[in-house]
Amino acid sequence: MKKVLALILALCMCLCLAACGEKPAENPSDSNPAPAATPAPAENKAPSDGKTDEPAPTDEQKTVGIAMPTQALERWNRDGAYLDEQFKAAGYETIVTYSDNKSEQQVNDIQNMLAQGVDLLVIAAIDGNALNTVMNDAGAADVPVIAYDRLIMNDNTSYYVSFDNYTVGVLQGTYVKEALDLDNAAGPFNIEFTGGDPADNNAPFFFNGAMDTLKPYIDSGKLIVVSGQTEFSAVGTEQWQTDVALDRAQNVLASYYADGTVLDAWVCSNDSTSLGVTQAIESDYAGDNSVIITGQDGDVANLRNIKDGKQSMTVYKAVANEAVVTLDLAKAILNGETVDEGLIAASGWDFDCAYDVESYETSAGNACPSFLLVPDVVTADNMEEKLVTPGYYVVGTDGYLEATNG
Ligand code: GAL
Repeated sequence: MKKVLALILALCMCLCLAACGEKPAENPSDSNPAPAATPAPAENKAPSDGKTDEPAPTDEQKTVGIAMPTQALERWNRDGAYLDEQFKAAGYETIVTYSDNKSEQQVNDIQNMLAQGVDLLVIAAIDGNALNTVMNDAGAADVPVIAYDRLIMNDNTSYYVSFDNYTVGVLQGTYVKEALDLDNAAGPFNIEFTGGDPADNNAPFFFNGAMDTLKPYIDSGKLIVVSGQTEFSAVGTEQWQTDVALDRAQNVLASYYADGTVLDAWVCSNDSTSLGVTQAIESDYAGDNSVIITGQDGDVANLRNIKDGKQSMTVYKAVANEAVVTLDLAKAILNGETVDEGLIAASGWDFDCAYDVESYETSAGNACPSFLLVPDVVTADNMEEKLVTPGYYVVGTDGYLEATNG
């Protein structure tokens, strides 16, 4: 927690500087501007001069390349800012890129980082299957790669840091199960699913976690997927886009619910898709019951919807802690240490993290050693306890939650 608080403090200081007139850096490689509430990270810039109050970790200054997918989704702005701050505070130079959700651009961005001689890469892949060439280049140059949050399907991936993705889906499914009291209520209830980006290795894990939890009730007839769309391939959302989720939800509502059929719940894999589904229900759903809607990430717009009763829950992932794990792992790798589950005890984190050498394969039979953090459920009732008390968000003057760095 100490590290997280220090980080939050550092981000607040950045904000003060920005408020005092420092113009945020433009991002030349991402056409989507960062939400105003998020400090603009240093993007696509040459390595900084590395000046810091803390001593450099080694005699020779090391540079870490941080490749994030896009600024269009709120969480990646937080991740990029946290990682950048963490690594700089520990004395590393950083290069941070956002690639506008374009895989080819991410390949170029990573190639540029390798050309600039980075010592380690932290990559949140846009498409986990599209980085082979550049991953092989990293391997040939002996540059270790940490797959950040999303697995990269290439055996040069050194380690994977993420949250337990399957559990995210289980938490969403369990929320629906409990909210509808599926074990006791007579039912049947009607439900729909919206999944994530098929290019994102995490997306099927989220979907399967939710589906596996609810499938017994679908099989017994207590839950009915009226559209019949129960496969991930039918419910995926390209690039997690709100508009794509909105369009499909409108189609489903028009085709299956326009006759007054009641919709009880809609499992959405994350908050950006949840926004689209919520909008479709507001504009196109004929019923007047309140529909249970899930999400993931704790985006500010969704926290507003949760407070207003339009979305039921979000699965929150403390990305500040994900950055802490990534930094400690990177330090150990760069110091030439053998990294295994001992890192968890040695680092003394005050949050839970599991070491897993089985669940995530970069190719058939080749599991990537993974550090998996634990996601948490946030609702209107526990929002302040889960998000404000630990310092991740503050309550704004209008009573809604705002990011502390904003
Ligand atoms: C996933 C990530 C989620 C969510 C989603 C959309 O890979 O784990 O937290 O942000 O992408 O970007």
